[in-house]
Amino acid sequence: MPDLKERAARNRTVFLTDEEKQDLRGEIVFAPVGAQSTLINKVVCGDIFQVAGHIPKASVDLLFIDPPYNLDKKFNNNSFSRMDLKEYEKWMDSWLSMLLRILKDDASVYVCGDWRSSPAIYEVMSKYLYVHNRITWEREKGRGALRNWKNVSEDIWFGSPGRAYYFNPGAVKLKRKVVAPYRDPEGNPKDWDEAEGFRLTYPSNLWTDLTVPFWSMPENTDHPTQKPEKLLAKVILASSRPGDLVCDPFLGSGTTAVAAKKLGRRYLGVEIEEEYCCLAAKRLARADVDPSIQGYAGKVFWERNTGPKAGR
Ligand SMILES: C[S@@+](CC[C@H](N)C(=O)[O-])C[C@H]1O[C@@H](n2cnc3c(N)ncnc32)[C@H](O)[C@@H]1O
Repeated sequence: MPDLKERAARNRTVFLTDEEKQDLRGEIVFAPVGAQSTLINKVVCGDIFQVAGHIPKASVDLLFIDPPYNLDKKFNNNSFSRMDLKEYEKWMDSWLSMLLRILKDDASVYVCGDWRSSPAIYEVMSKYLYVHNRITWEREKGRGALRNWKNVSEDIWFGSPGRAYYFNPGAVKLKRKVVAPYRDPEGNPKDWDEAEGFRLTYPSNLWTDLTVPFWSMPENTDHPTQKPEKLLAKVILASSRPGDLVCDPFLGSGTTAVAAKKLGRRYLGVEIEEEYCCLAAKRLARADVDPSIQGYAGKVFWERNTGPKAGR
């Protein structure tokens, strides 16, 4: 499919040839999962309802869940149909309740949604987990509307099964241009670097520094709802340690696994569509060659369209 599309010369979208798909299938674990199969650092092709029971109990440090939102959406050969919010809540309950057994006591859980599905996410998460926060992130691009506000925000709910959980905000500081250059009584800059004109700030629950992958970014694929690697990097760095196991039961094009690998974590991803599993496998192979994450450099996150080299 995508290999036949005409693409502009600067288009860096990751696509698959039939030959590559054949090779990449060898990297994937296909359901039904055998008793001997190791799922660590693997992409598992299958239905999470079939696969979850094979993920070892109390093994996961960070569970990142980006389910189909409550919208009509086509995911390659599969479609998701919008349902009544109560039905969506029940559907969400069916997989979240099932995934609790794979969590370590001090694990963290993140669940993505939009303004419509957020009430259901809160209802279900608060039934089983301590809910700590709701992050809202700006998608930057959005479809204009004449009779409504353009929708450019999405939510990520953050919770944990226990009161104790790992959280490292120092690992996800944002480097921002100084807007208010305050000085102390001696005239020295307060919390900002005079030579650079930047300040390092602790992260809030409002993220405006992300860019949704598009055709000139090397992480881009044809997956319709791909998350930015930078978004996953924030979640992974704040809520896991090197070597921890990061699990994503709706892996899509592999973003969670790719960011986890680039940041030295172990990963386990489940995705029902073989095409997306192959894209994930290709991106994981590329991560060995290029472990960079756009927007994260020098152990800090940069504001959108800025970085250590360009656009200061
Ligand atoms: C919102 S997308 C995830 C996108 C992903 N975060 C990324 O960056 O590419 C949800 C994914 O869940 C997959 N999916 C839907 N139902 C599933 C199921 N029962 N088991 C496993 N995967 C499923 C869809 O094929 C789709 O790729």
